[in-house]
Amino acid sequence: MRVLGIETSCDETGVAIYGDDIGLAAHAVYSQTDIHAEYGGVVPELASRDHIRKTLPLIHQVLDEAGLGADAIDGLAYTAGPGLIGALLVGSALGRSLAWAWGVPAIGVHHMEGHLLAPLIPTGLESPAPAFPFVALLVSGGHTQLVEVQAVGRYRLLGESVDDAAGEAFDKTAKILGLPYPGGPALAKLAERGDPGRYRFPRPMTDRPGIDFSFSGLKTFALNTLGQLRTSGEDSTQGRADIARAFEDAVVDTLVIKCRRALQQTGLRRIVLAGGVSANRRLRARMTEAMEAIGGQAFYPPLALCTDNGAMIAYAGWYRLSAGQREPLAFRPRPRWSL
Ligand code: KG4
Ligand code: ZN
Repeated sequence: MRVLGIETSCDETGVAIYGDDIGLAAHAVYSQTDIHAEYGGVVPELASRDHIRKTLPLIHQVLDEAGLGADAIDGLAYTAGPGLIGALLVGSALGRSLAWAWGVPAIGVHHMEGHLLAPLIPTGLESPAPAFPFVALLVSGGHTQLVEVQAVGRYRLLGESVDDAAGEAFDKTAKILGLPYPGGPALAKLAERGDPGRYRFPRPMTDRPGIDFSFSGLKTFALNTLGQLRTSGEDSTQGRADIARAFEDAVVDTLVIKCRRALQQTGLRRIVLAGGVSANRRLRARMTEAMEAIGGQAFYPPLALCTDNGAMIAYAGWYRLSAGQREPLAFRPRPRWSL
């Protein structure tokens, strides 16, 4: 079965084709960051309008790249939620309509299930795919969750953020440090120049049992530290880099500590990272180290499949459609939707 996947939940338009006979035949992502940058964050109405402009051309593009005609597609998958309602409507309406026109089934995919399954997509690029069961650490701009994964569709939430998601904390702290949107990658880049010994930020909620997270205090910590730098007349790029490093170290350490706890609690040995923040180099390095130390193993999606993309939606949709799951003609985007 060959599935065309469409992702439009936020500010990336992603389209891809995945099939058991052709693998990931083509995938393309168009990022709207330039449009939203001047506002310092995603403007939902602008996002929807741009998805309308970009989705159909991207579908033509991936069909061309894969050398396939529309008649070679056996199913459609689109992100049905969670995300921005207007943005979700664009991909859902288009995906459902194309499926109807082409006479093939369609399915609405949970965006976080897409992220969660991304490390399983056979791309030939990265280490072998993890076997079930495993613990997944989902770290994106909207979610931070630890999930026990027994099989596709069999998920148990172990812990989650009680306030900001990890990516959101990166973005907000980046803004405080005067970095452009989207802040996560920019903050990580600045942190490379930072002195790890200058500041030590707290590792929130690690001093008590449990595997929930809280990241909103870290941005306040960054704000206060920057305030101190300013008052002492020491505000400089180096000072800001030192803050970025302290922030990143705190987030990474906290994530690693909670992942170790989740493995201990479930008795599992494999941890799978997914979502935008799983692109973070320091997180990958520390997680791999920590897993080696306890005889566990860490898995990551290829960098291009960490942030939002159509490949993960095509793959998750392929999995469900291949298993015989079908949906009626009606579609219902779900801006809020638990995994
Ligand atoms: O998964 P994603 O593309 O979108 C959501 O589903 O939210 O994740 C985007 C998030 C943003 O908050 C972005 O700043 C963060 O992932 N991110 C990073 C890095 N690359 C993306 N955070 C830290 N380090 C990175 N290298
Ligand atoms: Zn995402």
